Amino acid sequence: MLKNNPLWYKNAIFYEVHLRSFCDSNGDGKGDLPGLTTKLDYLKELGVDCIWLLPMFPSPLNDDGYDIADYDNIHPDYGTVEDFKTLVAEAHARGMRIVADLVLNHTSDQHAWFVESRKSKDNPYRDYYVWSDTDQKYTDARIIFVDTEPSNWTLDEATGEYYWHRFYASQPDLNYDNPEVADKMIDILKYWMDMGIDGFRADAVPYLFEREGTNCENLPETHAYLKRVRRVLDQDYPGTILLGEANQWPWDLRPYFGGDEADLTAPGDEFHMAFHFPVMPRIYKALKLGDTTDILDIMDRTPSIPDNCQWCVFLRNHDEVTLEMVTEEDRQLMWKLYAPEDRMRLNLGIRRRLAPLLDNDRRKIEVANAILFSLPGAPIVYYGDEIGMGDNIWLFDRNGVRTPMQWTAEPGTGFSSAEPWAPVIDDDTYGYQKINVAAQQADPESLFHTMKHFIATRKAHPILGWGRCDFLRVENKAVLAYLRRTGEGQMLIVCNLSDQPQEVTLSLPEFRGVTPQDVLTGQAHNIISDEYTLSLGAYQYYWFDLSGTT
Ligand code: NOJ
Repeated sequence: MLKNNPLWYKNAIFYEVHLRSFCDSNGDGKGDLPGLTTKLDYLKELGVDCIWLLPMFPSPLNDDGYDIADYDNIHPDYGTVEDFKTLVAEAHARGMRIVADLVLNHTSDQHAWFVESRKSKDNPYRDYYVWSDTDQKYTDARIIFVDTEPSNWTLDEATGEYYWHRFYASQPDLNYDNPEVADKMIDILKYWMDMGIDGFRADAVPYLFEREGTNCENLPETHAYLKRVRRVLDQDYPGTILLGEANQWPWDLRPYFGGDEADLTAPGDEFHMAFHFPVMPRIYKALKLGDTTDILDIMDRTPSIPDNCQWCVFLRNHDEVTLEMVTEEDRQLMWKLYAPEDRMRLNLGIRRRLAPLLDNDRRKIEVANAILFSLPGAPIVYYGDEIGMGDNIWLFDRNGVRTPMQWTAEPGTGFSSAEPWAPVIDDDTYGYQKINVAAQQADPESLFHTMKHFIATRKAHPILGWGRCDFLRVENKAVLAYLRRTGEGQMLIVCNLSDQPQEVTLSLPEFRGVTPQDVLTGQAHNIISDEYTLSLGAYQYYWFDLSGTT
């Protein structure tokens, strides 16, 4: 059973599941809830603490379920509400938690509210959405899906007015200035929370309100509403969390945690967690250039957050590698380095998976994960990245990074007995015949076992979840070095991000006399004097325990 630890998320390992691609239990070619339930033991074996489920609600799937047509039910492809309850119970029985996606900002245009809303200007649901007789309002708001959407307004021929949408035109934005909308979304949250889930990953939260003369992101009204959502969780569902998806700069993310900027012991009162978007592309950039400058820079500019909050760090997810939080120059550079073919690019990002991005180079994949699992924050693993799955850039939108999970070398990859909803990866390098869970479970040297080892080692060292982080200034820019520390101990992380062997000298006077022990290999290293010189092979990494020191 689940232990009653309200701060469980501080040191949890998250795993993101795309239901449609994970496991098909009924032979229709689409993954479903009962299928996922049969794979809980696998996730437990990997060391997962909390599963984040992408949207599972009835939807025309124009945006893969982020276009919700009915918030109270499960998409028939995925099963039933009963199946969902079973999944939650079975996960809890194994000590794992479930976080669902909460899409507050918009619905599908097929949602009954919008169907009504667009019928006439005086329909009682008209005001559930944002309508205007001109498309010249809120012109400072950027367009997010730049490849497909020419405007954030779409003309609705029937009534001659425009409706507002930050994503696809088939995803009209809800009008949070209407108190009925604000209340109803809280009812929806309660409906799912009452089924015993452990929280929500809240989608696209910066955009809830619109105000003229602003970029319509991160508005005070938005924060006020999110604080209200948080109060509901705190009052009625203690121990559950809100994980915010706000693709913003760290200083703009800080208010999403709430609390008191001057006193970190004052509890955050908005999101428990938020994704750290900007560090992710900088890890890839550093790996390509063998230069850690940008990682240090963004971490330096990342504000401290309340003690009861946590960052969520990730290397990949179900979207493109977003390049929104980089300069225009860096975006061009990243595209050049990582998306040489046009088709690899999407909106302001790159639609590729982790292993192909890192040239399927095991050393690069490992060092990237060594960083992921030791940076401040709770790490998220995207399904399939634990075995190094490939992608298919030729599929629609972001489907190329959402292909069926590769369980076995059998046709259908053990994912489904029927023709899978999307083609499985079957190229020479990443094909399911070669890259699959069964093969990697059987091979102690596989990436799966390395990932499992990272996770187990991280869990054995709670400093990595709880500790503060001090980056060391080193002359050798190819080497990233940081100390993680709590009152109980200290760890030193050292990673070589270049393809050449490197030597680095660290100034560690406070650890003079300590014998660092690499907790990943168990190997003891030379005793530290004031300066500590280390040699690292290409992409080599260490997680040193410096505990027991005075
Ligand atoms: C963010 C989600 O991650 C993405 O997949 C989706 O398209 C947009 N929000 C809109 O809901």
